[in-house]
Amino acid sequence: MVQPAIAFEHVRKEYPTAGDRSGAAVDDLSLDVRPGEVLVLVGPSGCGKSTTLRMANRLVEPTSGRILLEGDDVTHVDPVQLRRRIGYVIQDVGLFPHRTVAQNVATVPRLLGWDRRRTAARVEELLALVGLEPSRYARRYPHELSGGERQRVGVARALATDPPVLLMDEPFGAVDPVGRRRLQSEFARIQREVGTTVMLVTHDIDEAVRMGDRVAVLSSGAHVEQLATPLEVVARPATDAVADLVGRGRLARLLALGRLTEADVDTGATGPVVGRVALGAELGDVLGAFLAAPGEGAGARVEVLDGDRVVGSATSATVLRALRRLTDASHGTDAPPLAAGADRVGTLPA
Ligand SMILES: Nc1ncnc2c1ncn2[C@@H]1O[C@H](COP(=O)(O)OP(=O)(O)O)[C@@H](O)[C@H]1O
Ligand SMILES: [Mg+2]
Repeated sequence: MVQPAIAFEHVRKEYPTAGDRSGAAVDDLSLDVRPGEVLVLVGPSGCGKSTTLRMANRLVEPTSGRILLEGDDVTHVDPVQLRRRIGYVIQDVGLFPHRTVAQNVATVPRLLGWDRRRTAARVEELLALVGLEPSRYARRYPHELSGGERQRVGVARALATDPPVLLMDEPFGAVDPVGRRRLQSEFARIQREVGTTVMLVTHDIDEAVRMGDRVAVLSSGAHVEQLATPLEVVARPATDAVADLVGRGRLARLLALGRLTEADVDTGATGPVVGRVALGAELGDVLGAFLAAPGEGAGARVEVLDGDRVVGSATSATVLRALRRLTDASHGTDAPPLAAGADRVGTLPA
């Protein structure tokens, strides 16, 4: 078995000041973050997400239980070493206002005593990575940036020493919705490029299913309601709390996450062809092909391509069937793969 990047073992946190009117902020959390994955913690405000993250980098000490970073108990790791191994990005970024962008990004390298040339080269590389042209941005101060640009600087700073693990607490929360979508996809690209393990916290289920390789849905006390792929969480909520969170936008999310598989494809349909889609296309895009051909009736179909070979067709009924397949809990774990690249770990209803 692969060693987890971070492992929480029966972790509990009670804040002394919280009094006995409320339970523990984190009750009894056991969770593995796998190397290279983006694990998203999603849940309502106050359910213990930030506390969980902050215990991983020792901004908060657990009351009991253990947290292992690549096998090492974090309470035995020197805090400076720990900061080098774990990057941390928070909503308000926390850039130093009187330091330039370059100086902000260089914070940890400087602490570690890197020389000027190495630091300068790294800063330049990171600014380019997060999409900020170094010659334009390096000498600016934080107040001369937009919210989204500041957030990018925060990500660059957290990546400065190439930490194996990045913790992100509502990282895109302060950015407007359009900028937010852009930052999310930019960040997904960066994450794939550098391969960092990411633990990301959000209260936004859309952000969770868009960003996560796996999603842990939490309720009060950081209780894990479900830990599964985004598609599984949306298609087959394990508990009422998950169903509530997935909520009214569920169909739209399913159309975006669900994919057309070989098993869905119809080989006998004969209606008029109104378009072409690739095997593995989002179900929403398949439906879109029919919307784009309003003159055609219910028998209309799109050809389905595997590479440049036509393997069959799909009708609007095909999409409906695929949606039913995704949401049908009775399929259990023997069902064909639901999404390209999705693994099937996590809680499934029996
Ligand atoms: N420093 C603190 N002292 C006392 N209680 C705290 C402190 N930080 C958080 N809490 C409480 O712990 C619970 C979990 O908080 P938090 O982890 O910040 O939740 P989330 O990030 O999911 O909104 C909440 O009830 C919150 O009020
Ligand atoms: Mg929080």
